[in-house]
Amino acid sequence: MDALPCGQVCGVRAASEAWSACGWVRSLPRAGFSRNGNDWRTSAAAGLVSTLCVRRASRARCARCARHAAKTRVVLLGGAGRIGTAAAVHLLRRSPNPLEVVLAGRSEAKGQRAQEEVLSEAGMSLKLGHQVSFRQVDWRDEGALAPLLRGADCVLHTAGPFDEPVVLKTAIRERVPVYVDVADPIGRYLDKAETMDAAAMEANCMALCGAGAFPGFSNVLAVECASRILTSGARELRDVDFSYFTSGLGGSGAVNLLITNLGFGEPVPVYRDGRYAPQMTAGGEMRQVDFFLDEADPAFREVGRRDVWSWPFPEAYTVPRSIHIQGDSSTGMGTAPGIWNHILVALVSLLPRDLWRNRSFSEALAWFSLPMVWATDQFVKETHAMRVEVSGSEWRCVAVQAHRSFRRCVAQSAAEFALHLLQRREGDWRPGVYMPELLAEDEAARAELLKRFSSTEGTISCGFKLTSESQERLTKD
Ligand SMILES: NC(=O)c1ccc[n+]([C@@H]2O[C@H](COP(=O)([O-])OP(=O)(O)OC[C@H]3O[C@@H](n4cnc5c(N)ncnc54)[C@H](OP(=O)(O)O)[C@@H]3O)[C@@H](O)[C@H]2O)c1
Repeated sequence: MDALPCGQVCGVRAASEAWSACGWVRSLPRAGFSRNGNDWRTSAAAGLVSTLCVRRASRARCARCARHAAKTRVVLLGGAGRIGTAAAVHLLRRSPNPLEVVLAGRSEAKGQRAQEEVLSEAGMSLKLGHQVSFRQVDWRDEGALAPLLRGADCVLHTAGPFDEPVVLKTAIRERVPVYVDVADPIGRYLDKAETMDAAAMEANCMALCGAGAFPGFSNVLAVECASRILTSGARELRDVDFSYFTSGLGGSGAVNLLITNLGFGEPVPVYRDGRYAPQMTAGGEMRQVDFFLDEADPAFREVGRRDVWSWPFPEAYTVPRSIHIQGDSSTGMGTAPGIWNHILVALVSLLPRDLWRNRSFSEALAWFSLPMVWATDQFVKETHAMRVEVSGSEWRCVAVQAHRSFRRCVAQSAAEFALHLLQRREGDWRPGVYMPELLAEDEAARAELLKRFSSTEGTISCGFKLTSESQERLTKD
């Protein structure tokens, strides 16, 4: 039972005490309860108080009392996965309020192990009164998913691959207030999600898609770069580039190998001269990228210069569309050890795109390469880095973020997006379906998100550098 700010306890058994202690309960018409005498009144009040406390929490009106009356219920789909478990741990460590985290996945055995892992890693934070449990569910079975989501305050969906927005649709139908997914989809997932905007508004749901590290955190970095350029007096934004580096699987699950392979069969969703012009260049256009701002940046030592090749990250399309660039967008990723980059680029140039698009082929190749990736992962650190560059008029803004663990960075970013939205239930609540760049259009929201992301455990570096062409000319001279 949780203590209320008014010093009492709220729950069915203690409801009569809470009734006399909570101001808003006192304002209820007493006549209705006292009509048939005290005994009846007390038991009716007990039921009513506990129900109303929970209901009020979901409407975020009696925020201080109600928040303490019920735990915030978070359903974590993919909760037994690599990113899911790390997201659960981060939620438990960073939430200011007690949470009831329900890990959900298809395998009971994996679920039990995940529950133990989360409980042991969450450590001291469990003192806040959090609860962690596991529920077996396949999200493709809407009939089984709906009852699990019913009454939840938040759904965090990490159970990819993301092809159809079934979970979003069910969350909206069940009127779950906060929905966040870490979709890094190829295909039309995000377009389909956006068509649910009106339904989300009607259901009073704030839904955020593509909200991991990339896409997700990186989209927010791009909007901040664009804002810094425009504030410096630039008339227009020209180009935007997203580059990423992850050593091997970076602690994430094998499903990410499958997703990478499938992506080689898809067009890279880029802009050319301000227009959407997808290119069949995935796995090509190898280039070198500096994942640091300058030599004093810790990322210079930890990550340095790396090879990247093009891959169809959706932010190369959704961010330019949102910030209205007049030039080109590009997106690429690289891995370590460097030999993997050359093997992948060679394979992509040899095999037809149709074959990569074929799920059976891409899955077979993922399973074939998994032991080798696992073996090389034993010798490389989990390091991950992102570099986002936006240019406009004569300005250039570069953002670099580096983290000790790819898996944790994705998980922490998603969890922070969820905590941000949960916090907004008590303030700036704007229902609808969002991509991270839309949420970040608002300056205050963007500042709050960046503060959250840059303060996560394991962050090596997170910063911006704004330069003008004349400054760069001066430095060269
Ligand atoms: N935006 C980003 O920055 C970013 C970066 C990397 C990855 N991702 C996304 O993150 C996802 C998860 O990665 P991960 O490393 O955590 O992979 P993982 O370890 O394989 O975890 C995925 C989990 O999802 C569960 N799952 C899969 N299909 C399910 C279904 N139909 N119903 C219920 N549960 C299901 C699996 O559980 P069972 O097999 O036990 O059912 C598994 O535990 C990837 O698919 C990828 O799309 C996003």
